[in-house]
Amino acid sequence: TETERTERLAAARDELGEDVVVLAHNYQRRELVDAADFVGDSYELSKRAAESSAEYVVFAGVTFMAESADIITDDDQTVLLPSMEASCPMAGMAEALQVDAAWAELTEAAGDRDIVPVTYMNSYADLKAFCAEQGGLVCTSSNAHRAFEWAFERGDAVLFLPDKHLGENTAHRLGLEDSTVEWDPWDAEGRAATHVADADVILWDGYCQVHERFRVEHVEQARRDHDANVIVHPECRREVVEAADRAGSTSEICDTVAEADPGETWAIGTEIHLVKHLQRWHPEVDVVPLCGDACMDCNAMRQIDPNYLTWILEELAAGRPQNAVEVAPREKELAAVAMERMLEL
Ligand code: 13P
Ligand code: SF4
Repeated sequence: TETERTERLAAARDELGEDVVVLAHNYQRRELVDAADFVGDSYELSKRAAESSAEYVVFAGVTFMAESADIITDDDQTVLLPSMEASCPMAGMAEALQVDAAWAELTEAAGDRDIVPVTYMNSYADLKAFCAEQGGLVCTSSNAHRAFEWAFERGDAVLFLPDKHLGENTAHRLGLEDSTVEWDPWDAEGRAATHVADADVILWDGYCQVHERFRVEHVEQARRDHDANVIVHPECRREVVEAADRAGSTSEICDTVAEADPGETWAIGTEIHLVKHLQRWHPEVDVVPLCGDACMDCNAMRQIDPNYLTWILEELAAGRPQNAVEVAPREKELAAVAMERMLEL
């Protein structure tokens, strides 16, 4: 039962004391969010991991987040992921080997123009390492515009990976929409890099399957049915972000609801678990999912079952750490450079 699980979890936590810190992303289920020491967006959680001195960081999130925590924590700290199945599909849309091949083609086509690769946090460690090697950096949804500015101080153009929507929304925010192009190096027409090499912002063809499903009609319907204010995540399509009142990272969404006046209505365009948390955390605000009944659920986040958290903590308390996420040393060193550039923004 849930009560038994909560008791077992509390007993394991007691035994582990300061040796463990539990982090949960905003999209995790209620039981996980309630059990965590810190809940937040991917940027905040990576900072929490870096600041923590706990020997073990248990990360209720997806693999790229656990990797990022491993990259920025000290060598004597170990990051554990309650399920190794929790892999973000968008991170898998830009594999380092693929990007490496495309990069060679792109830089050749670009000639004297310097292109700076910028990768969203939602990517694997080898891609972050690649970006560092090529003079680029990592960003999250809360600092993508600053990462672009950083890149334009050092080069002529940005290759943004893997999320084309966050890249496009950021380019619009900076007034670069007229020189932004999408690029799929393996598209059916076999178009070469020459057709994108003049652009200021080149968008890799990746996307989040949860956020891409929001439509402008959802925004219109929320206004019609609930007279709602609308906030969406910048992984949503450009036209959805434009139609909404606001866009922001999961933490910015949380802040918006926390600062709303009692009785205000906010429709939230992001993963459904966060919408439900906000309804619980702020009963004085009328929080509704932007998608209405068609709930937008992230399968990757859902792989972390509350029972797995209990299991991993009990194993740890018994001296058997499970599911350690360890980035290879050379990759770790380089990826840390790309992440430190972000943390300094
Ligand atoms: P943030 O929490 O950084 O806004 O990221 C959203 C997301 O999709 C994480 O997978
Ligand atoms: Fe990946 Fe989207 Fe799920 Fe975030 S919400 S983990 S970007 S699939």
